[in-house]
Amino acid sequence: MEKPVRLQKFLAMAGVASRRKAEEYIAAGRVKVDGKTVTARGVKVTPDKQIVLFDNRQITVEESSIYILLNKPKGYVTTLSDPQGRPIVTSLLPGVKERVFPVGRLDLDTEGALILTNDGALAQSIQHPSNEVHKTYQAEIKGHPDKKSLQRLEKGIRIEGKQTAPARIRRRKRKKNSSIIEITIHEGRKRQVKIMFNAIGHPVLHLKRLAYGSLTLDGLPLGKYKILSKNELKNIFSNKLLYKQKNS
Ligand code: URA
Repeated sequence: MEKPVRLQKFLAMAGVASRRKAEEYIAAGRVKVDGKTVTARGVKVTPDKQIVLFDNRQITVEESSIYILLNKPKGYVTTLSDPQGRPIVTSLLPGVKERVFPVGRLDLDTEGALILTNDGALAQSIQHPSNEVHKTYQAEIKGHPDKKSLQRLEKGIRIEGKQTAPARIRRRKRKKNSSIIEITIHEGRKRQVKIMFNAIGHPVLHLKRLAYGSLTLDGLPLGKYKILSKNELKNIFSNKLLYKQKNS
């Protein structure tokens, strides 16, 4: 917790006692903040920065885990701070008090499905290459690629000396000067989709992530988020099997 909170509230949140009882404990001199006994009323503490002891035992508040699916608009960075002062995705989460971080990244100009959580273990497992959680993007690309070029992407191409894993590609729409293509990959290399289409001579004009594993944006407006249960999020692993079955 990075925000200051009243000492008795903090003790209550940590499960030491009710707020009223905690006030009594404070008055009785049983609580120390940064090594000093605090008996005054109304003292606030910043739990991330200060050490609170109750009967000389350190008190901590476990933040509960939270899982979020955000439909990220363009113009937001997926880092937690930005030296250039651009808007950050967490500013789109009013009402979320937990300190969440994005699972993976989306470029500044990419829209779509972004998972955020404070559950570091699950975040790591989602991103671990061995889990092959797939992501589906809708890319509007310049021009009209021929079948052969798309097959190259499906098989895998070399990016910076390393072959990309097989991708699944579907043409969705032909416009006058561009094409809408859906591409599913399970790797998460930086700017991967853009680099892949660049490699076949059809730069990406607009990119949107439609789905992260089985989590789709269905009904979620741009800039809005929804809270997921841990199980809903864990489902994204099962989709890997579906994908494999379809392609085997
Ligand atoms: N691939 C890209 O090129 N950009 C993204 O934001 C995500 C995947």
